[in-house]
Amino acid sequence: MASLFVFSLCLLATAITQTQAKYIVPGARWLDTEGNIVNAHAGCVVYDNSKFWWFGEYKIEGQEEGGGISVYSSDDLATWEFHGIALEPIDGHPYISREHIIQRPKVVYSEATKKYNMWWHADNSTYGWLLQGLATSDNIAGPYTFVDATAPLGNWSQDFGMFTDYKDGKTYALYSNGDRREGRDVYLTSFNEDITALDKVVHRFDKYDLEAPTIVQTERSYYALMSHKTGYRPNNVVAFRADSLSGPWSQPFMVAPLNTRTYNSQSGFSLRIEGTKKTTYLRYIWLPIDIDDRKKDLELIWHDVYDLNVKTGDWRPVRGKTYYGIDAETSGNAFKQEANFASNGVILTGIYGNDSTVTFHGIEGTGCPQWVSFYYQNTDDMGFGDQPQGQPDRIGGEWQLRRISSVVVNGDTENVHTLYQRDTHKSIILSTPLQLTLEKGRNNTITVGGLFNGVEYRGADLDRIVVYPPEK
Ligand SMILES: *[C@@H]1O[C@H](CO)[C@@H](O)[C@H](O)[C@H]1NC(C)=O
Ligand SMILES: *[C@@H]1O[C@H](CO)[C@@H](O)[C@H](O)[C@H]1NC(C)=O
Ligand SMILES: *[C@@H]1O[C@H](CO)[C@@H](O)[C@H](O)[C@H]1NC(C)=O
Ligand SMILES: *[C@@H]1O[C@H](CO)[C@@H](O)[C@H](O)[C@H]1NC(C)=O
Repeated sequence: MASLFVFSLCLLATAITQTQAKYIVPGARWLDTEGNIVNAHAGCVVYDNSKFWWFGEYKIEGQEEGGGISVYSSDDLATWEFHGIALEPIDGHPYISREHIIQRPKVVYSEATKKYNMWWHADNSTYGWLLQGLATSDNIAGPYTFVDATAPLGNWSQDFGMFTDYKDGKTYALYSNGDRREGRDVYLTSFNEDITALDKVVHRFDKYDLEAPTIVQTERSYYALMSHKTGYRPNNVVAFRADSLSGPWSQPFMVAPLNTRTYNSQSGFSLRIEGTKKTTYLRYIWLPIDIDDRKKDLELIWHDVYDLNVKTGDWRPVRGKTYYGIDAETSGNAFKQEANFASNGVILTGIYGNDSTVTFHGIEGTGCPQWVSFYYQNTDDMGFGDQPQGQPDRIGGEWQLRRISSVVVNGDTENVHTLYQRDTHKSIILSTPLQLTLEKGRNNTITVGGLFNGVEYRGADLDRIVVYPPEK
């Protein structure tokens, strides 16, 4: 009864403060207002009519294609409401049936035609066409009506991006031109006035063999971010800088610590939030971008949890309390192993099933849902079927996408939480957050074991956990 009461108090607090910004937790599985996982992959966000609109690929489990483009809206970039499928696949359609590729959608409002234009990478299932699709709608949320799929100025187009210059309002397409030897470039091409066709090539990033392009514009610079090509597996994202879109552009440089694979994310999209106090640049996955225009440098710094005010543009990382692996208790075959890259020179390893576990004691809680980040190392070097580019550090290995751990609070094995731990690299520590409810006081335990990932019950090695304060 007591815990029920506490639970409803937390809910009440959330309801009252709903108009205030919720925390943004980039590594979490995001839920929409109906409690479903936000299903909008490789997306874009458009600010329109005082709301943020998120468009992305709607993925159906076990299928690579066929879901069309979903749309969500938000006031604060943290709470997302589902508005259904904005671009529906049509059976038998020559370009947007369920067999076709409808990827990386971008939406822009055309002042000239008074319509919302959705552009995307349009293709057949074997990527043989390399076209750009266009659909339009009178409403931002759709439904969008297919117009055409075309070859940009007669060329190929794979990963598709879009950029609008905030100074003159002009819109540009960004696209890689495929993996063939004759391709491997990234184009920056202006649109016509209506944003219904391409106009002329402004710059070509020649033969770098990059993809997933996006541009961040500051007062004095343009930064073009792109990823390397490793299939569906993340890698080190790079950026180029220039004073003008037509160049000259700088050499590419890394934007995140090496071998974190850009915190297991791709470039693909960025968002400029012009607040009343400050302009903030976010990048998808949602992380603020640190830009030093004097040094001509741009950097991504990881934050488990941060607080963003979309009105003022201000944001701050939320501070949590850390509990180290060296102080945890191990059971079964789990043990503490020397690791000079880990906190206190020790990492928790051998976590397996429910009898080789590690337990953190004396954790302070509030009785309300709190974000808890698990800092881990997964050395599997995730394989990717028979695609050799999926395995830069391990030849021919067929491993799983991730390890999976079980998380149990205060011995409550009736409520096992699932923690997904994608591969990092050897000696690279990244984090994944879970929202947990700890009891009020300083006597909580968190026990981590291993769950089945398709191959074995092994959890990733743990370095530390960080417990964040609840949302106000
Ligand atoms: C995709 O298009 C290419 C080029 O027209 C063609 O060679 C290929 O067979 C097509 N793939 C499918 C599955 O139809
Ligand atoms: C088409 O692509 C080829 C190869 O990248 C390039 O040489 C040519 O200039 C491109 N033409 C246009 C109009 O983009
Ligand atoms: C422990 O895991 C085994 C499977 O490995 C399962 O059969 C058993 O029910 C689990 N026990 C508990 C207490 O969760
Ligand atoms: C803390 O919890 C343990 C059980 O996990 C219990 O034995 C102990 O008495 C508790 N201590 C306090 C101060 O509540």
